[in-house]
Amino acid sequence: MVALRAGRYDAMGISKPMYRTQYQSASLFEEARDFIIQCYGELGKHDDIDQRIESIKCEIDATGQYIHTHDELEHGARMAWRNSNRCIGRMPWRSLTLRDCRHISPAEEIAQALVDHLDAAFNGGRIRPTITVLPPGVRILNHQLIRYAGYLQQDGSIVGDPDSLEFTRQCQEFGWQGEGTAFDILPWLIQLPGKCPELFPVPADAVYEVPIIHPDIEWFDELGLRWYAVPVISDMELEIGGVTWTGAPFNGWYMQTEIAARNLADKTRYNILPEIARRMRLDTSRSASLWKDRALLELNVALLYSFEHHGIRIVDHHSADRQFSRFMASEKRAGRTVTGDWIWLTPPMAPATTDTFSRRYRREVRSPNFFYRERAGYRTGTCPITSERNERPREETARSG
Ligand code: ARG
Repeated sequence: MVALRAGRYDAMGISKPMYRTQYQSASLFEEARDFIIQCYGELGKHDDIDQRIESIKCEIDATGQYIHTHDELEHGARMAWRNSNRCIGRMPWRSLTLRDCRHISPAEEIAQALVDHLDAAFNGGRIRPTITVLPPGVRILNHQLIRYAGYLQQDGSIVGDPDSLEFTRQCQEFGWQGEGTAFDILPWLIQLPGKCPELFPVPADAVYEVPIIHPDIEWFDELGLRWYAVPVISDMELEIGGVTWTGAPFNGWYMQTEIAARNLADKTRYNILPEIARRMRLDTSRSASLWKDRALLELNVALLYSFEHHGIRIVDHHSADRQFSRFMASEKRAGRTVTGDWIWLTPPMAPATTDTFSRRYRREVRSPNFFYRERAGYRTGTCPITSERNERPREETARSG
C-alpha cells in the first residue's frame, strides 16, 4: 500500500501549513490510530477499538503498512466526502456506495471496473454516489471518467473543451484519434505502478449524455449542446488514516450551475453565451443590457429542464443550498462542526439569494479527505513516471469547478 504523508496539499489546491505540520510529523501509526478511534466511534464499535489498534500496530511493525478492512474503507471514504470543503452536496455523505476493487490487477480488469462504476452510478438516471477503490498505486490519468476532448485548430481556435487540450494531446500520442467534434469522449489512460499508461476507449453504451433543449425556446437544440450525466472525478487521491489510495474515482450528481454556469458558459470553456445572446437578439454591444446574465439564465433553465426531461438526477443551486443547511444542522446534532470553502460553496448564479452567501466557514482541512494530484501525470519521454511529480497542487485562481 502507498502512504504518502509528507508535503501534502489539500483538496482546496492550496498548501495548508497547519495541516502539513499536523500530519507531516505524525507517524503512519498515529494517523491510523486517530482514524480508527473516530471511525469506530462513529460506527458504534467502541469495544473493538483497542484490539484493532493493536493489530494495526503489529501489521505496521511487520510490513510498514496496514490494510483497511472493508468497513474502514467504506466509512473512511464517506468521511472524506463529509470533509470535502468545496462540496455543497455533502448532505447524503452516508449514502456513498463503495466498490472495493483493491484486488483486481490487469489494466483490462480496471477498465472493466470503471465501466461497471459508470453503470452502477448511473442507475437508470437515479444517480447513486459511488466510489471505486483501485489497487495501491494505480492511477487514472483522466480528470473525470467522462470528459470531452479539446482540439487546437490551425487558426488558434479550439474545438471541444479547452480544459482538455493537454490531456487530449497525450491521448493522441498514445495513438488515439478523436472524431474532432465538440463532444468527443476521451479514452481512459490507466497507469499501473511503475508501468506506462495504457489507453482504453470508453464503450459508447457506458456513457449517458443529455442533449440540451429549452422548455420555451425552440431554437435551443440547434446550438447542439449536450453534457454527460455523471461527473466522476478520477484524478484525486483518497487519504484515510495515513494511507493514500491513488485510484479512487468517485461521483455524486450534478448541480446545474456546474455545467450551465461554468462548463458551457465560461469564456475559457465552451463560451456559448455570446451565441445564445445573439440568437435571443439581445444587445451585445453594451454590457449594461445584461445580455450575459439573460443568456446565462436561459441556459440554466434549459439544463435543468433537459436533465429532468430525461429522468436524470440533477439539483438546482437553491435546493442544494437548502440541503447544505440541513447537512450543517445534522452535523451539529452529531456533535461535529462543518468546515468549508466559501468561494466554492457559494453558487455562481444568484449567489446572494443563498444562505451559504451570508455564512462563514472554517477552512481547516480534516482527514480523511480527497486530495489533488498533478493533472495528467504522464509526460512524454519520462515513462514510466512515478509519484514524484504528483505532489504539486493544481493551479487555481478562484475555482475551476
Ligand atoms: N464541476 C465539475 C464538472 O463540472 C464536477 C465536480 C463534481 N461535481 C459533482 N456534482 N459531484 O464537471
